Amino acid sequence: MKILLLGGGGFIGRNIARKLSNIHDICIFDLCTKSARNIDCKKICGDVRKSFSRVKNLIKEYDLIIDLIAYANPKLYVDKPLETFHTCFTENLKIVEHCARYQKKLIQFSTCEVYGNHGDACTGWVEDETVFCSGPIHEHRWIYANAKQTLERLVDIYAKFENLEYTIIRPFNFVGHDIDFLPSKEGGCPRVFSHFLDSILGSGNIKLVNGGKQKRSYTYIKDAIDCIEKIIDNPGSSRNQIFNIGSPQNETSIKQMADLMINIALDQHWIKWPPAINVVSGQDFYGKGYADIDRRVPNIDKAERLLGWRPSTSLRDTLLYSMQPWFE
Ligand code: UGA
Repeated sequence: MKILLLGGGGFIGRNIARKLSNIHDICIFDLCTKSARNIDCKKICGDVRKSFSRVKNLIKEYDLIIDLIAYANPKLYVDKPLETFHTCFTENLKIVEHCARYQKKLIQFSTCEVYGNHGDACTGWVEDETVFCSGPIHEHRWIYANAKQTLERLVDIYAKFENLEYTIIRPFNFVGHDIDFLPSKEGGCPRVFSHFLDSILGSGNIKLVNGGKQKRSYTYIKDAIDCIEKIIDNPGSSRNQIFNIGSPQNETSIKQMADLMINIALDQHWIKWPPAINVVSGQDFYGKGYADIDRRVPNIDKAERLLGWRPSTSLRDTLLYSMQPWFE
């Protein structure tokens, strides 16, 4: 099958292309495709915001469109809320419209952030039941969740009225060694795994935002890609469905995750001394407009029922495999 990965030069896209490029005819379209240079597939550099006609022609040419174009980093939601909105909603909506126009199946990447913040009460968010719950307008962090949520609604409306065939994916904290970048080398503010890894590699103290009581469920990228492959291979069962992809058994507080990453590094003799840990406020770390999500855990019964998928990598192994290439 001819598969177009829009925004495919990022962490998830590269991992999809690596796994599927010997089975399918894959094309990655992204701002920069350098990080995908070792993957044996077609690569096109371009900016969807500036060259939509190119994207339109590609949509015509390919059978399956996987749309990963997004800013998926909380620091950017706060610093660049307008760009976050236009990238995650306006540009993506054009892609949705053209998939409907040319009758191409769309796999739309969304986010677990659409569920919002349910405090500590969350015991497993269910795709078609859980009510979304985001924060006040001045908390700009929510612009991303709201852009993605509205996009999901439009995708479903296009399915009903324009016969679009789709699958929506809500990823829950995928991790692997090439997830982001080290802030001490490249600057900026990546997601938490890369910050903690950077500190363990010797860049300075670990910073625990608001004490690290907030919880996430970390999913090893290999498990996640297995699920995505099942979605591609089972168009009947995945047709017009929304799937959480995550590892509920790997729920951890951010503080426990920092401790576990340090313990792994000590056990493996990668380091002799652990980095110090400081507590910082969310406002100091991310800036005004940041809001946190206390607990985030997926219900994955639907993926198990319709696709026969369950993740198998434990939290310890997820972190170990993701850290290993940086030390060995
Ligand atoms: C982010 C994105 O916003 C989601 O869209 C995406 O689905 C998700 O990552 C993901 O990776 O799947 P979040 O989990 O809040 O959401 O992002 P992180 O930057 O990884 O932060 C996780 C937690 O660690 C937050 O509570 C944050 O405050 C904390 N943190 C972050 C620290 O304690 N220290 C740091 O150095 C960085």
